[in-house]
Amino acid sequence: MFWTFSSGVRTGWASICGALVPPLTLFAMIPADNATKGKLCDELMAWYMKFPFPEYQPAGLNLPQVPIDSSLCHISVTKWMKEAGVSRGSDERKERCGGLTADTAVKVVNMLNKLHDEGAFEVTTKPHENVESCMSCHNNMQPFTHGKENCMECHGMRPVHMEECEQHVQWLSR
Ligand code: HEC
Ligand code: HEC
Repeated sequence: MFWTFSSGVRTGWASICGALVPPLTLFAMIPADNATKGKLCDELMAWYMKFPFPEYQPAGLNLPQVPIDSSLCHISVTKWMKEAGVSRGSDERKERCGGLTADTAVKVVNMLNKLHDEGAFEVTTKPHENVESCMSCHNNMQPFTHGKENCMECHGMRPVHMEECEQHVQWLSR
């Protein structure tokens, strides 16, 4: 495997979710034009942000299904562990990421089948509505930025501000 930073090798950087890297790589390799490949990427990314993972739960652990609103493993795993009240090493967390990977594989197969059957692919899942509205300015005026993830996921009230937490104030002023 050449995407060594995601699951298999477990270096744990928690950057892009490891379930997304293989399909995104696969899209680059299929015989289609770049516009179609771009649409496949856009659909998969926007869908991933909204889908309440994990739907596929073969172990029957009755895991909570949580939409994450981010493609980052750090945010995905952390938000889910918070909701489920379990640790990273737990069976529940492993089942959750396994189920998420299966859900993503099903989505990818459905997308590729659609492309194959219809000879074209149209995006049906859009990025969060914040993106269009925030980028209408930040594309063209300073401070410039770039991206399609929900802006408010990071620029809203979350993540937790350590300055506002009693336990951290002393540590921060060291
Ligand atoms: C009408 C245009 C406009 C829209 C829409 C807009 N911004 Fe801005 N934004 C600005 C401008 C202009 C600045 C620079 C303000 C300054 O330097 O005082 C700014 C500054 C910022 C900054 C830097 C703030 C700081 O404290 O330095 C962030 C982060 C930001 N915007 C995020 C967003 C997000 C997220 C959205 C959508 C929810 C958004 N902006 C929508 C015009 C806009
Ligand atoms: C995964 C978290 C994350 C997401 C999602 C995100 N940002 Fe940011 N953004 C950051 C971080 C971190 C910085 C750097 C902040 C700093 O330098 O203090 C930043 C910087 C910025 C800045 C420059 C601020 C400045 O002071 O110059 C703007 C503008 C901005 N983001 C807008 C957006 C918009 C618009 C979106 C949605 C399309 C978005 N961001 C999505 C984390 C995020």
